[in-house]
Amino acid sequence: MRFENKIVLITGGNRGIGLAAARLFAGQGARVMLTARDQAKGEEEAKRIPNAKFVRGDVSNAEDCRRVVNESLNQFGGLDVLVNCAGIIFRNRTVEQTSEEEWDATFDVNVKGAFLMSKHAMPFLRERKGCIVNVASYVGLVGFANTAAYAASKAALVNLTRTMALDHAREGVRINAVCPGSVETDMIHEAWKKFGDVEQAKRMWAEKHPLGRIARADEVANAIAFLASDEASFITGVALPVDGGITAA
Ligand SMILES: NC(=O)c1ccc[n+]([C@@H]2O[C@H](COP(=O)([O-])OP(=O)(O)OC[C@H]3O[C@@H](n4cnc5c(N)ncnc54)[C@H](OP(=O)(O)O)[C@@H]3O)[C@@H](O)[C@H]2O)c1
Repeated sequence: MRFENKIVLITGGNRGIGLAAARLFAGQGARVMLTARDQAKGEEEAKRIPNAKFVRGDVSNAEDCRRVVNESLNQFGGLDVLVNCAGIIFRNRTVEQTSEEEWDATFDVNVKGAFLMSKHAMPFLRERKGCIVNVASYVGLVGFANTAAYAASKAALVNLTRTMALDHAREGVRINAVCPGSVETDMIHEAWKKFGDVEQAKRMWAEKHPLGRIARADEVANAIAFLASDEASFITGVALPVDGGITAA
């Protein structure tokens, strides 16, 4: 029960990696607030998790971020862990092929969302010497063709993580990131569907990873939980690859 008496807020908590993290934290004793835009899906998932609640919110909207943080405090009485997991991607886009709207939407969710949530959560995290885990990507650590806005946004999130870690270290607030390789969630299924042959696409994606497969969402959740736990008490400012070895090459 590593997270007994801990209160955890997870953006992007109604699906994929965020949902896997919510299940893991709750299974280890935490009270968990999930947030995302799809209310029906969020409420359905929260009902299945002990000690979890859902509040609707769009992380690109400052007022929503403030309300989501306040709702966590109202429901549970504090905040120990913020997981910034909400994210979007536009694939198959070089800079030339990326519209200004796609660029802005990507940065609004993947970077500004983490900024706004962290900004509103920080006073409460400081009170309880809590921590933040940002969900970046291995493409925030290395270049990756045809995802110009997404790769740039994840690199920005990695350096926001490092900078926030320095700014808040003396206050006892740790800030880290995980950098997943490919993970089997709705996000990647969309890419496989666009590719055409889903099974072939899955094999190709797996082949890119030295471990020869893609990750399950719970494998990324394990790394998020580790960074949020007391076992990581002397770790801050890291961007931890959870990528089957892809950035080792
Ligand atoms: N899957 C991968 O291969 C992979 C690899 C590396 C990194 N990641 C990162 O991992 C994170 C989770 O992705 P996933 O794979 O679990 O994808 P997913 O299943 O598509 O989940 C994305 C989550 O983000 C939420 N979201 C999107 N826009 C939002 C907004 N404006 N406000 C609030 N929530 C929003 C979605 O909920 P609503 O749509 O209901 O809002 C959903 O819960 C993302 O940051 C992604 O970039 C994924």
